[in-house]
Amino acid sequence: MGAHVVNELLQEGDQNVVVLDDLSGGFRDNVNPKATFVEGSILDVELINKLCEEHNFTYIYHLAAYAAEGLSHFIKRFNYQNNLIGSVNLINAAVNYNVKRFVFTSSIAVYGENQLPMHEELTPMPEDPYGIAKYAVEQELIVTKRLFDLDYTIFRPHNVYGELQNISDRYRNVIGIFMNKIMQGESLVIFGDGEQTRAFTHIADVAPHIAQSVNIPEASCEIFNLGTDKHVSVNKLADLVMSAMEKEVSVQHFRARDEVKHAYCSHDKFQRVFGTTSPIELSEGLHRMATWAKDVGPRPATEFDEIEICKNLPEAWKK
Ligand SMILES: NC(=O)c1ccc[n+]([C@@H]2O[C@H](COP(=O)([O-])OP(=O)(O)OC[C@H]3O[C@@H](n4cnc5c(N)ncnc54)[C@H](O)[C@@H]3O)[C@@H](O)[C@H]2O)c1
Repeated sequence: MGAHVVNELLQEGDQNVVVLDDLSGGFRDNVNPKATFVEGSILDVELINKLCEEHNFTYIYHLAAYAAEGLSHFIKRFNYQNNLIGSVNLINAAVNYNVKRFVFTSSIAVYGENQLPMHEELTPMPEDPYGIAKYAVEQELIVTKRLFDLDYTIFRPHNVYGELQNISDRYRNVIGIFMNKIMQGESLVIFGDGEQTRAFTHIADVAPHIAQSVNIPEASCEIFNLGTDKHVSVNKLADLVMSAMEKEVSVQHFRARDEVKHAYCSHDKFQRVFGTTSPIELSEGLHRMATWAKDVGPRPATEFDEIEICKNLPEAWKK
């Protein structure tokens, strides 16, 4: 998502875009050459301060995270360190260096198993460490505004897919995982009966809004669900991905994971502030991503080396 946001910012004529990424889940090639790329971590406070001093940032867009929601139960320490403490490092810097707005990508994971469609007035009840960390950062931004007047916009995107996505991480990005497997002629793994639903959102319906949000006064100190309304089952998704890739493989069902069964949102608040949009149809978005995926080709699936809890780890994730 960050690479697309950068492209949007550069298109708008913002010439001074600095990207900080440790490449743990992203790719150097995805970064627009017109941006200044710094390889480093949001856990490196010295580096963050040095960059703030050098560049005097007006805005910080914070998209860095390890977004493997299902795996987060088994890598709790890593999750909180990277996704929560890393975020706090950036918030501290934003206060100390007088940043005008902090844009944060939270997640609908904050809602947990909640009323549907999920809307921003609901009380979040996150059910996994990934969602808990995202909610904690949201709360941090709210109290930081109160005490230090740091302006913020929080997005809760959902199930974003598209070109440039990491397709080799076996723990997240179901569409990327499916495409990678299809290219290698391997069967698709679905957890449970496959009737769980998600509203998959093409990156083109996400990145421009994140980029432009700093110019929208009504988006100041607000939280927005961001994505499409239409939700499909994972079974249906598997068929659509095979059709976009023009190749059939077998489908295997594994034991259900501990995850929310249905997740879709209201976008009324987003539309009131950002205007109505006509989102890209799933079949069209999958076609765009499939064209890109076939072009870059399959990538070996990567494993997370430092699992902290092996108990109850889904069979498909065991080495
Ligand atoms: N993709 C989705 O469906 C989705 C949905 C909701 C929220 N989000 C959030 O949006 C953001 C972007 O997600 P994405 O799908 O583009 O994921 P991604 O993994 O493609 O991008 C995250 C980037 O953060 C970098 N990163 C991770 N830890 C870092 C660290 N310590 N220091 C510096 N860089 C680090 C990774 O290398 C990667 O390039 C994340 O915060 C994610 O939690 C994503």
